[in-house]
Amino acid sequence: MKQLVRNVKISGTGSYVPETIITNEYLETIIETNSKWVFDNVGILERRVAAANQATSDLATIAGQRAIDDAGLKSEDIDLIIVATSTPDRKAPSTAAFVQHKLNAHNSAAFDLTAVCSGFLFGMSVASQYIASGVYNNILVIGADTFSKITNWTRRDAVFFGDGAGAAVVTSANVTEGFLAYRLYTDTSHNMLGFTIPGGGSEIPLTSENMNEQYFQMDGKAVFASATKALPKAINQVLEDTGLVIGDIDIMIPHQPSIRILQKTAEIIGLPFEKVMTNMDKYANTSGATIPILLDEVNKSGKIKKGDIVLFAAVGSGWTYGASIIKWA
Ligand SMILES: CC(C)(COP(=O)(O)OP(=O)(O)OC[C@H]1O[C@@H](n2cnc3c(N)ncnc32)[C@H](O)[C@@H]1OP(=O)(O)O)[C@@H](O)C(=O)NCCC(=O)NCCS
Repeated sequence: MKQLVRNVKISGTGSYVPETIITNEYLETIIETNSKWVFDNVGILERRVAAANQATSDLATIAGQRAIDDAGLKSEDIDLIIVATSTPDRKAPSTAAFVQHKLNAHNSAAFDLTAVCSGFLFGMSVASQYIASGVYNNILVIGADTFSKITNWTRRDAVFFGDGAGAAVVTSANVTEGFLAYRLYTDTSHNMLGFTIPGGGSEIPLTSENMNEQYFQMDGKAVFASATKALPKAINQVLEDTGLVIGDIDIMIPHQPSIRILQKTAEIIGLPFEKVMTNMDKYANTSGATIPILLDEVNKSGKIKKGDIVLFAAVGSGWTYGASIIKWA
């Protein structure tokens, strides 16, 4: 094993969302909700939903292949695949193993990582350690989720989530660019079940009597309160770590929980909202996939230029949260 400390960059991005669109107006016909309320309070107009025969790994594989192509690599060049998901295809094998098989990335190790909506950020930080140390050269990090499969479509909280996948290839960079700082946190001290998927694990195995436990449960007020404390704390810490100030940030690519959470966060940290990227109007909250889908859109649209200072931040169930800053290469 080589002993190196190398800078780490994102050298390719990709994403995929399923074709089926579920609009707020359609949801009004099946649950007690209001299209205007959903857009005004959460920022969502519509979301994508996977087909019955599409598993999380199917979405992840397409996003992953697109990121590999964008990086100018081949599947066999990938040393490690990390899939951040809380809606895995199965308990075993991992979704990452399915992705490796479908990509024919036969030279890679592959594993899943669970940090729910912060999963992609946590996955990028894990990948960065392997690249920095010289253990691996090309790592595929994928955030992919199919929350439609764990949504109770008779309940009003069906408005919040959508399905999708995003991916990034992480490689070494020269010393003047790449990731500048990471901070990850897990705070279980209050309301840690404010967002949970209770059933289907070892605590509450699913039986014919408790099928409703397979669906996610969310306390919206708890999510809002946790998110608007956690995100500013992580962001201010990575600014301090890098010696940068908020005015140095060119673009913020955050998780997409709700538009109000992002507006409040931007207000607290003092970032003009036009620098905060969002696409939740089209895709809703795709959990582990929000940041890489948005990153791919922003990257492909040419909005990020070489040398730009890009801020990532996420918060999720647990509560996991974190932020990172990259100088775009
Ligand atoms: C969801 C959220 C917008 C709700 O706001 P809130 O003010 O806490 O909501 P409340 O439950 O007190 O309800 C306020 C009003 O909104 C209405 N409402 C709540 N959910 C609704 C829905 N899905 N559709 C339509 N109306 C809804 C309620 O009926 C209530 O109206 P009323 O005052 O006439 O009774 C807010 O808590 C939030 O943004 N939370 C974060 C959620 C999130 O990010 N989830 C995804 C990541 S895990």
